[in-house]
Amino acid sequence: MDAASLEARARQVLDRVVYEYFAGGADDESTLRDNEAAWGRIRLLPRVLRDVSSVSTAGDLLGVSIAAPILVAPMAFQRLAHPDGERAVARAAARSGIPMVVSTMSTVTLEDVAAAAPDSVRWFQFYVHRDRDLSRRLLERAEASGCAAVVLTVDAPVIGRRRKDEANRFALPPGMTIANLDASLQSHTGSALSEYGAFEPSLTPDLLEWIGTVTGLPLFVKGVLRADDADLVADAGVAGIIVSNHGGRQLDGAIATADALPAIAEAVRGRVPLLVDGGIRGGVDIVRALALGASAVLVGRPFLWGLAVAGEAGVEAVFTELRDELARAMALCGVGVIGEIDRSLIKTSE
Ligand code: FNR
Ligand code: LAC
Repeated sequence: MDAASLEARARQVLDRVVYEYFAGGADDESTLRDNEAAWGRIRLLPRVLRDVSSVSTAGDLLGVSIAAPILVAPMAFQRLAHPDGERAVARAAARSGIPMVVSTMSTVTLEDVAAAAPDSVRWFQFYVHRDRDLSRRLLERAEASGCAAVVLTVDAPVIGRRRKDEANRFALPPGMTIANLDASLQSHTGSALSEYGAFEPSLTPDLLEWIGTVTGLPLFVKGVLRADDADLVADAGVAGIIVSNHGGRQLDGAIATADALPAIAEAVRGRVPLLVDGGIRGGVDIVRALALGASAVLVGRPFLWGLAVAGEAGVEAVFTELRDELARAMALCGVGVIGEIDRSLIKTSE
């Protein structure tokens, strides 16, 4: 099923307030809309007269084999979509052969996600909290529970304003908690996320160093949109950069990620791998992202829609669809392996 039809089905099964939290963006939602539109503006120059009788989407990331260059983006509160929540997503990611990035704001603890899917490749998405001891413990628990990398999100020093959530008084229902956090922070779940004041608003480069003193896990920085920031981060000893505007949920008016990626790829010049997310909805979008310099993409909302509609199997179905679409798009572009996707496939506008 294509992404738009799946979203329509998920909308039918989800509580309206939950659907609006998942689907929504900040303010006027202009960046949210532009993320998808910007991929659509990129025109491809397919190669012909190539043998594409065998096409492989496989590759590796941090030395681990992946079935396709796709990761499940970190997303909060997955039990709102399905009772199994993050457990189901981790199992589906493991069966699919791709990593899942587990949010700090998970509704299942890191340890319970690990127990539910011991073979899954899990990366920990880290929200630095003002409480540095709590922050340190989160990193220690991520490493102890077997996460393979840390993803530091830097585009949320404060939470973007999501009008629908405010109007809906969006909150976690009784019995659901931000499972990784101490009881003292749980009172925040009773109010709108926009009032959650526990994130560290001073996200400065020394944090990268501090994280390195707590854990030796590879570190990705998520939420970069400018070439100069990417240049700074690439020199800071990180494992990679994730070009992201948080799915249009933080600064409305921020550049679409498809538009931000080329200048960042140019500035980074291969020093570290680039990942990208935001509005990637089909296999052709993945080809576009890789051709513009990304090593892999993260996909967000479509996995939530799959989870809402059919739990673990629904998440796996979203992956299968994306992988099959990617393989078809590669064949139609005349490429047989991921490494052959390059900038020459993009029509540049002069
Ligand atoms: C997110 N995102 C996110 N990012 C993050 O670093 N930590 C988080 O806890 C969350 N939570 C979250 C919840 C929901 C409901 C959504 C939709 C998104 C952002 C996410 O990782 C990613 O950047 C975008 O969702 C990618 O865009 P698409 O694929 O959803 O368009
Ligand atoms: C969100 C936060 C939790 O986007 O990252 O809802």
